[in-house]
Amino acid sequence: MSFPIVRPRRLRRTPTLRRMARETRLSRDQLIFPLFVREGSNVREPVASMPGVFRFSIDALVEEAKRVQDLGIPAVILFGIPSAKDPCAKGADAADGIVQRAVERLKREVTDLCVMTDVCLCEYTDHGHCGLIEGDQIVNDPSLARLAATALSHARAGADIVAPSDMMDGRVAAIRSALDANGFQDVAILSYAAKYASAYYGPFRDAAESTPAFGDRRSYQMDPANQREAFREMELDLQEGADALMIKPALPYLDILYAARQRFDVPLAAYHVSGEYSMIHAAAANGWIDGVRAMEEALLSIARAGADWIITYAAKEMAIRL
Ligand code: PBG
Ligand code: ZN
Repeated sequence: MSFPIVRPRRLRRTPTLRRMARETRLSRDQLIFPLFVREGSNVREPVASMPGVFRFSIDALVEEAKRVQDLGIPAVILFGIPSAKDPCAKGADAADGIVQRAVERLKREVTDLCVMTDVCLCEYTDHGHCGLIEGDQIVNDPSLARLAATALSHARAGADIVAPSDMMDGRVAAIRSALDANGFQDVAILSYAAKYASAYYGPFRDAAESTPAFGDRRSYQMDPANQREAFREMELDLQEGADALMIKPALPYLDILYAARQRFDVPLAAYHVSGEYSMIHAAAANGWIDGVRAMEEALLSIARAGADWIITYAAKEMAIRL
């Protein structure tokens, strides 16, 4: 059977028919809002390269998190900007560190919100790499204890989910065993499993002050050309005890997300990263595209490809529209 009997346009004729024929829906329940926290009080500092994104002091962060919860967004992911950095990332696992204090306050004052933390060293190292260095090498095994201690300190502060983003080998196992050995069996791990060495992190590094002082991240983040390797990373992280897997960035890697959806039965998260967000804003500011529609289309395509969770700087605007 074909045209003129078959006419796909029949079900596109009216808004109501289109609503009935719609296959994918974005839901607030999928959204995760990234938040940057820094020292100070009453601070709400705009990030120049990310319109609508701010760095908050802890008091202002609590107010923002209440608004996020009131909009029906279930979760936030926290990134810390410490006032001091050093070669070993001492601030990363400090019991009174910026993220640890922020998590304590959020869990006390915004009680229903799921608090996730990004576990990495790059915001806390003076060289800006995600692991420890020896000479110009980013060394794997010595970094694991620092990452595990960081995740444990977040769990002690009350984090519901820890999300390692460093891409060191074996870090999920190291974190799982540190958590379990200290009574945090119920803290979940969302692993940034397929994290690519991407040009799209530029605005984030501006926001988090985490640009590497030398070299780049290609010896630990993945080569954008690789798909099979992503499945291997995801399988390994599941074996090591990850509860959920992340693919990052999102739009340039929808093929990875789609294929991961067919292979794995755990929740899949996609991170619509800073560069993806800022490009839409920049084009909209020039009057070249409708920014709201472009953002919605981007997030919808991420859901259509198979993401359960979408990490997006546009979560609040989107929650208002949904
Ligand atoms: C830290 C981290 C990065 C992002 C999330 N966690 C930056 C990086 O790896 O360089 C990027 C997020 C974004 O661009 O929105 N490891
Ligand atoms: Zn990092």
